Amino acid sequence: MAPRNTRRSLFGTVLAAAAIAFIAYPAGAVTTQADRPDPAKGKKIAAEVCAPCHNADGNSVIPSNPKLSGQTAEYIVKQLTDLAKPPGDKTGRENAVMGAFASMIDPADRPNLAAWFSTQPPFPPASPAAAATPEATLGQRIYRAGIPEKAVPACAGCHGPAGAGLPVLYPRIGGQHGEYVEAQLHAFREGTRRNNEAMWNIAFRLSDPEIKALAEYVSGLHPQ
Ligand code: HEC
Ligand code: HEC
Repeated sequence: MAPRNTRRSLFGTVLAAAAIAFIAYPAGAVTTQADRPDPAKGKKIAAEVCAPCHNADGNSVIPSNPKLSGQTAEYIVKQLTDLAKPPGDKTGRENAVMGAFASMIDPADRPNLAAWFSTQPPFPPASPAAAATPEATLGQRIYRAGIPEKAVPACAGCHGPAGAGLPVLYPRIGGQHGEYVEAQLHAFREGTRRNNEAMWNIAFRLSDPEIKALAEYVSGLHPQ
């Protein structure tokens, strides 16, 4: 048991700290609640700012704009952070349109927006199950087995067999808009999206027809 005087001085320290906190943050600004992501606040911003491009629930119907619903909160926060980085940042993700919006929103709202979109029902497939076109067949082969002679690993290893993604930083891609998937593989390959070394290394080895084939196959996947 601690001696009395130690306890008393500990009590005094706590009191002093509380007093300082009270002076430094008056009017109830000190709450642990404030640190917790607030999906209601995210929902409000989503309706006011993001909805025209991503839909209010994140299930975008515009092929160039990604669906966000059901992505993990960690992945969404990371993308908003990376998109807001200045051009030339070696860990950033450049996009004129989304870069402007990511820079505009308060960094404190990133977790709120992520809390909203990540808890919406995961997005449904963009297109019906991929028909067995030669392109989709090539896409399927690379998705499942990679391209061993070019040291391209199977996409399924990180994005899941049907593209549902793996928690927390491997995004859901099954059923994502094909046009968007194609644009991202180009962005990784051409170096405007530098926020993940593994993806850059993979996309770097893919040809245009392989990227097209993968985009077609991925957009037709039906994750559970
Ligand atoms: C004017 C249209 C527009 C608006 C408004 C907009 N976005 Fe975007 N967003 C885009 C586009 C286009 C992309 C794809 C960028 C790229 O190609 O890298 C994107 C990408 C994203 C991504 C990355 C998704 C992924 O799968 O990696 C997130 C997260 C995102 N937006 C969140 C938001 C949020 C949150 C808002 C509202 C505060 C918002 N966006 C407003 C057009 C928009
Ligand atoms: C070693 C693990 C790994 C493998 C293998 C992999 N990926 Fe990825 N992929 C990732 C990670 C991690 C991200 C998210 C990067 C970030 O933080 O922005 C990603 C992002 C993506 C995105 C962007 C998604 C979005 O919403 O913006 C696409 C598209 C994608 N990968 C397609 C593929 C395809 C196609 C293959 C197979 C040729 C593949 N990936 C193989 C790890 C992997």
